[in-house]
Amino acid sequence: MASLAILPTGKLFSKNANAKLKLAIIGVGERGSMHLDLLLKRDDVDVVAVCDVDGKVIERAKRYISKSGKKMAQFFTDGSDAWKKMLEIKGGIDGIVIATPWECHKEMIISSIESGIKYVGTEVMLGITLQDHWDVVKATEKYNAHVMMLENVCYRRDVMAALNMVRQGLFGEMIHLQGGYQHDLREVKFNDGIHPYGHGVEFGEKGYSEAHWRTEHSVHRNGDLYPTHGIGPIAHYININRGNRFLTLSSLSSKSRGLHNHIVKGGGENHPNAKVNFKLGDVVTTSISCANGESILLQHDTSLPRPYSLGFRVQGTEGLWMDVNNGVYLQGKTAKDEEWDDAKIWFDKYDHPLWARWSKETTGAGHGGMDFFVIHSFIESIKRNVPTPMDVYDAATWSAITPLSEQSIELGNETIDFPDFTGGKWMYRKPVFALTDEY
Ligand SMILES: NC(=O)c1ccc[n+]([C@@H]2O[C@H](COP(=O)([O-])OP(=O)(O)OC[C@H]3O[C@@H](n4cnc5c(N)ncnc54)[C@H](O)[C@@H]3O)[C@@H](O)[C@H]2O)c1
Repeated sequence: MASLAILPTGKLFSKNANAKLKLAIIGVGERGSMHLDLLLKRDDVDVVAVCDVDGKVIERAKRYISKSGKKMAQFFTDGSDAWKKMLEIKGGIDGIVIATPWECHKEMIISSIESGIKYVGTEVMLGITLQDHWDVVKATEKYNAHVMMLENVCYRRDVMAALNMVRQGLFGEMIHLQGGYQHDLREVKFNDGIHPYGHGVEFGEKGYSEAHWRTEHSVHRNGDLYPTHGIGPIAHYININRGNRFLTLSSLSSKSRGLHNHIVKGGGENHPNAKVNFKLGDVVTTSISCANGESILLQHDTSLPRPYSLGFRVQGTEGLWMDVNNGVYLQGKTAKDEEWDDAKIWFDKYDHPLWARWSKETTGAGHGGMDFFVIHSFIESIKRNVPTPMDVYDAATWSAITPLSEQSIELGNETIDFPDFTGGKWMYRKPVFALTDEY
């Protein structure tokens, strides 16, 4: 991918037009190393500090930086609190990227803000409990900071083309939306302690990467543990927190079989992990009602054999897009009555301006190129000293689905009121996400 030297406008880099942003990263595991790689490809960024507790991934990060030809960063590796030292580095940090286990995010986000960092890009999930989400929102407001969840699926090419079509009214008035996280994670949640994916049925202390920490959430929690890839795009389609909001939520869980069966299949009935009881139901279904009358269905389905699909359905008064059959139907516009058009016909025509402009730069970026945009948006917002296009209210609203769904299931699928993290501001806020081809 070519280096990016985005042209400064009057508002950019207010102090010095040639200055580069000073970026830091906490967590350079499987995900953080991808962010590091993207940051190193940019001419407008210096990665000045990197923190991780794992020496192996630190060595990989050093190799990435050496290969980029950029100045070596300062490294912080000494224990699980080393990141706190990093926040004190001389010369300051313009923005920080956090890609650590979910349970670390809240403290790392809030401490970063308290240390004076104005821009925090956090990987998905803002916290664990509902209170964690409120704490992050309140700290962000208090310090006038910007917290962006690095929700990359919002930038997926088909998702953005569908957004373009929604905004141009092709589907009519929005009525019903579906999405979720339908991804067989059995080889992510269990491995041999060496490879990040598969080769064994270990987790926890004996697991590596996400098997080291993520699987514990499936042991102890039952809810939609990963809602943001589905709900982020849906929230943009119907302007959540910007003229609309989630009102209520209710979740339903199936029984749990998939993770146990996977252990028995790979490690035998006598493997110690075969005794573990997984609280997480194999399929968790969540329904959400909205102030403007739309209904939403989300599914979390990560423990059973299945092909990957986020299962989007975007349905309005004039037609719909369905992800799983890759079909678009628009009354009076698609080729035949009551038959699907291949979605490609429509998505090529309504390619989002961001993709039309930047698709060359996405080459080599993860997840089909969409990872480029999420980092690009974060960096361009810092340069312009403006709010990020997805802000702390979006992050809290999407991520809070997890504790709310846990609560609903615990209470026998009770319908829970959805908190309004904007404190009523949703009524006046205007959509800002991807309105132009800039970032
Ligand atoms: N958006 C996406 O497509 C996507 C994809 C994968 C992961 N993720 C998210 O990225 C985050 C990280 O996931 P991952 O797959 O990289 O996991 P990982 O386990 O591979 O990486 C996490 C890293 O954090 C480090 N770490 C843990 N505690 C730390 C501490 N106290 N201080 C410093 N470093 C610490 C670990 O050593 C590890 O290297 C999670 O939030 C995950 O949900 C997002």
